[in-house]
Amino acid sequence: MNQDQLKALVARAAAEYVEEHAPCDSVIGVGTGSTANLFIDELGRLKDRFSGAVASSEASRVRLEKLGFRVLDLNEVSEIPIYVDGADEIDPALHVIKGGGAALTREKIVAAVAAKFVCIADASKRVEVLGRFPLPVEVIPMAREYVARQLRKLGGEPCWREGVVTDNGNVILDVHGLRIADPVALESAINQIVGVVTNGLFAARAVDVLLVSNADGVQRMQRG
Ligand code: A5P
Repeated sequence: MNQDQLKALVARAAAEYVEEHAPCDSVIGVGTGSTANLFIDELGRLKDRFSGAVASSEASRVRLEKLGFRVLDLNEVSEIPIYVDGADEIDPALHVIKGGGAALTREKIVAAVAAKFVCIADASKRVEVLGRFPLPVEVIPMAREYVARQLRKLGGEPCWREGVVTDNGNVILDVHGLRIADPVALESAINQIVGVVTNGLFAARAVDVLLVSNADGVQRMQRG
C-alpha cells in the first residue's frame, strides 16, 4: 500500500471511531491537511449525526461546507467531544509535531477545547524522538527576526517559510536541527518568546487516541 492508501485507510477508521464514540447531535472538531481532508470526505455520510463542525482552518471549513456541514465559529461552542486531526511526527508518549500545513494555532485552540484529541496518521509519522520534522512556529510578522535569533539560542536553525501567511495573518518559522528530548519543556520555552503566537509541539496537551495505519491495518493506541 502506498502512503495515500494508508492515509485513506486511517481516515476511514477515524470515521468509524467517531460514529461509535461521538454523542449524537454533538459538534465534531475537524483538523487540517491531507489526512484530515480524507477524513472530512468520509465524514460526509455522517453529517446528520452532528449538530455542526468546528474547523481548524479556512481550507477545512470550505471542504466541510461543500459537503453540507454547518461550520460553527468556536466562540459559539462550549463542548467538542472529539477533535480529529493529522500530525507530522508522533513520539511514543503521543506528543506530536503539527503545523506542516501552517494551521497549528487554530489546531491547538480546537484541541484545547476538545475533550478528546484523536490523531490519525500513517506509520511513517512515528519516531522515537521528535525533531526530524522541522518544528513550525507561528510568529507575528514584525517579530520574525527577533524570534529567529531567540530560537537559535535554543539550539535550532529557523527557516522562514517565505510566501506563507497563516489564516491569522502571521508568518511561519520552521526550526531545523532540534532533537526534542523534553517536548513539554520546549513547547513552553518557545511560547515564552515575545512575538511567538504558538509552536507546533502538542505536548502539554498531547494526543489522547492515536489511530495509525500500516500494511497490516489500523492500530489504536490510547494515552494513560
Ligand atoms: C496542518 O497544519 C498540520 O498540522 C497537519 O495536520 C499535519 O501537517 C499533517 O498533514 P498531512 O495529513 O497532510 O500529513
